[in-house]
Amino acid sequence: MKKSKIQFGIIGNPVHHSLSPAMQNAAFKKFKLPYQYKKIKLNETQLKSFFDQLRQSDKAGINITVPHKENVIPFLDELSPEAKLIGAVNTLQLHHGKLIGYNTDGAGYVQSLLKEKKWSPKNKRITLLGAGGAARGIIVALALAGAKEIYISNRTKEKAKKLAQEFQKKLKKTRFDFSSLQAESLRKIFKNTDLLINTTPGGMQGNEILPLPLDQLPQKALVSDIVYKPSQTSLLKAAKKLGLKTQGGLGMLLYQGALAFEIWTGRKAPITLMKKALMKNLA
Ligand code: ATR
Repeated sequence: MKKSKIQFGIIGNPVHHSLSPAMQNAAFKKFKLPYQYKKIKLNETQLKSFFDQLRQSDKAGINITVPHKENVIPFLDELSPEAKLIGAVNTLQLHHGKLIGYNTDGAGYVQSLLKEKKWSPKNKRITLLGAGGAARGIIVALALAGAKEIYISNRTKEKAKKLAQEFQKKLKKTRFDFSSLQAESLRKIFKNTDLLINTTPGGMQGNEILPLPLDQLPQKALVSDIVYKPSQTSLLKAAKKLGLKTQGGLGMLLYQGALAFEIWTGRKAPITLMKKALMKNLA
């Protein structure tokens, strides 16, 4: 009898730090699914042979992390509408012999807002710090969820401008604008902000983007950081001090994984269990 080939895992470089195996394997175990989710370190030159053998599998579900979220696109047969807009893929599935790419990063972020903070982006004014790959995913998901305005602020202003112009063309229901990270530009914008998101690594050890004029934010504003280590970034600490609501990055990691699990298995993700596995491995 032919042996069934099943492949689940995360490809990237580096991947040793990934918390995805812990949360996905916990979820597979709960449903007694005979899958083993692995860390697969690949450089760019190894992608072709990886995808050649992936196509020979009977079942496959793969997450993609840095630096391959864009590199994998030429190897896929189809992209979800979100992945197409974002221009990057973090999840793929082998479905009836076809490789289909998705992006659950942004949708995972929006899910974490909805589930953990009971906060919906609909008709909200959002200020986003950063203009890299993480920003792209979050911007698309927020716009598709009905955000009224998205203000992109970036250290390199030109990149913020390019992003705002690109998405204004593609996502017409949301109004886009941009600025540098200069406190002077941010003061006015912060006054009209319902949600402030940091998508830059500023806030990780010794990599500060503060001072930001956080005191200009309305008292009801939510401040969120997609960095999950440390769980309390310098941005979140400063926001808390001002009495603002805050959200760390663990929720995004959890819900992007939960959405990937649902794509692969068609089952509802066991959120509490997956979160426990994440927390255990983070500690
Ligand atoms: P990712 O895919 O995680 O978003 P990226 O594409 O390298 O990573 O983007 C990193 C973003 O963080 C960029 O917007 C970068 O600003 P620049 O466009 O000016 O490079 C921003 N960034 C990185 N370090 C920063 C810091 N210390 N302060 C402010 N912004 C920073």
